[in-house]
Amino acid sequence: MSLRSNVLDLRKRRKEVQMGGGEKAMEKQAKMGKLNARERILALLDKNSFHEYDLFVEHSAKDFGMESKVLHGDGVIIGTGTINGKPICIFAQDFTVEGGSLGLMHARKITKIMDHALKMRVPLIGINDSGGARIQEGVNSLAGYGEIFFRNTLASGVIPQISVILGPCAGGAVYSPALTDFVFVVENISKMFITGPSVIKSVLGEEISMEELGGARVHAEITGNAHFYATTELECFEQIKTLISYIPRSNAKKAAAYPPKAPLKGKKIEEIVPVDPRIPYDMRDVIKTLTDGSEFLEVMEHFAPNIIIGFGRLDGETTGFVANQPMVLAGVLDCDSSDKAARFIRYCDAFNIPIVTLEDLPGYLPGVDQEHAGVIRHGAKILYAYSEATVPKVTVILRKAYGGGYIAMNSRHLRADFVFAWPTAEIAVMGPEGAANIIFRKEIAEAENPDEMRQQKIKEYKEKFANPYVAASQGYIDEVIEPKETRSRILHAMKVSENKSVYLPSKKHGIPPF
Ligand code: HXC
Repeated sequence: MSLRSNVLDLRKRRKEVQMGGGEKAMEKQAKMGKLNARERILALLDKNSFHEYDLFVEHSAKDFGMESKVLHGDGVIIGTGTINGKPICIFAQDFTVEGGSLGLMHARKITKIMDHALKMRVPLIGINDSGGARIQEGVNSLAGYGEIFFRNTLASGVIPQISVILGPCAGGAVYSPALTDFVFVVENISKMFITGPSVIKSVLGEEISMEELGGARVHAEITGNAHFYATTELECFEQIKTLISYIPRSNAKKAAAYPPKAPLKGKKIEEIVPVDPRIPYDMRDVIKTLTDGSEFLEVMEHFAPNIIIGFGRLDGETTGFVANQPMVLAGVLDCDSSDKAARFIRYCDAFNIPIVTLEDLPGYLPGVDQEHAGVIRHGAKILYAYSEATVPKVTVILRKAYGGGYIAMNSRHLRADFVFAWPTAEIAVMGPEGAANIIFRKEIAEAENPDEMRQQKIKEYKEKFANPYVAASQGYIDEVIEPKETRSRILHAMKVSENKSVYLPSKKHGIPPF
């Protein structure tokens, strides 16, 4: 055989395998409005950058009729490539091959590329479109997912791990993403559940659609399993590219710096925030007056919207933002917002991303629902995350900073490096109304005119405590600043913190209130 015929034979073999589950199955996938696994990789990566491995791997199952089946590539594509010139490792499950289910060889392909990503210290992207553990392969498929979960855990905090859910994903195909840093979902396409509707029907006798059980909206808004929500696959890939631009390749690096840009000219910061602490405003508008080019990549936009988390740049450097959102529940901390912020703080800390905290909140949300949902345990996570974080940490108190909220939102006491407060800041154990009603209860009750007395006591309390100057007199805040000075103060604080070096006590690991 000549070289040419060998090459032609290789091409023929490649083409056949690249057809995944065959033409009909590919057409079915397209009819559902889904790209196929290969198209997804090519759409996400830089042009001509994808290099594939293990194309010719076949499954090894011998039971339940599997012995006579050919599963091209065993239902998953693995490889390396670049996104905006940055190297990444990737796998994409192919739903056209046995529902993208994971058998032994499928799992070996995924673990091979995971090992590579960890060894080479580059981000790992997993495109999940799979019914989970392949039923016909029994314990071998469970073993396969176990090996994946183990690697997800080892890689956590070392390399960025990004999961994309692009189909009905069950069992291990959602537990592996849950162990990764960021989960992307797409309207109508993504479904995530541990057990699908058919299992629910047979075990519980209940009918439920895949969408109601675990559609993209469910996970973006209710469960908090998803971090980014898109309306199309292509929009989702753009979101991934933007995220990659903000984060470093591994925990040993800093994120790439971009040319510094001024924020866009628009409403001034002092015009956005009303002086009256009872009037809400959109904290996103404040963030955009601070970031380069007013750009901000919000994470978990639709979940626990009473807190805002996301990435922006300050003088070209990636910065994480954690900010109360006075427009939703007055920006209180509750179970979900504490979980959301705590995990993000730990992400920033693991990947050398400094954190800016913008504070305006009345404290933790009171009530039986929250207490019974475990607000003590969940709320403690944010205390733990800020205390443990050693990246540069800057706080600005805009208006309210009451009670536990004051401490939790990166106060000096949790080792903020710089704390600034606007003259409108109110730092106290609780709001003046509540405080006056408790500490002056007797005087108010005994007064000739209780209402008048209450108003007088509220005024007294306000004058004494509801301002930034008591905290400033103790050195708990470093400076009371004019709102228009906010960006320049933060930029300078970040500049002088560039070389920050602090050490925590040596330990195997802490025990955060998971
Ligand atoms: C083998 C599977 C499969 C699986 C789907 N298929 N899931 N084959 N093992 N786990 C096959 C189907 O038989 C079908 O083959 C093809 O893939 C497409 O599946 P459909 O059911 O036709 O598609 P759809 O209606 O879209 O439903 C998708 C689905 C459903 C919701 C994922 O297939 C489903 O519920 N599958 C089982 C999910 C599950 O319970 N997996 C095990 C999880 S346990 P044909 O030949 O007909 O085209 C697990 C262990 C880890 O993962 C646990 C971690 C803790």
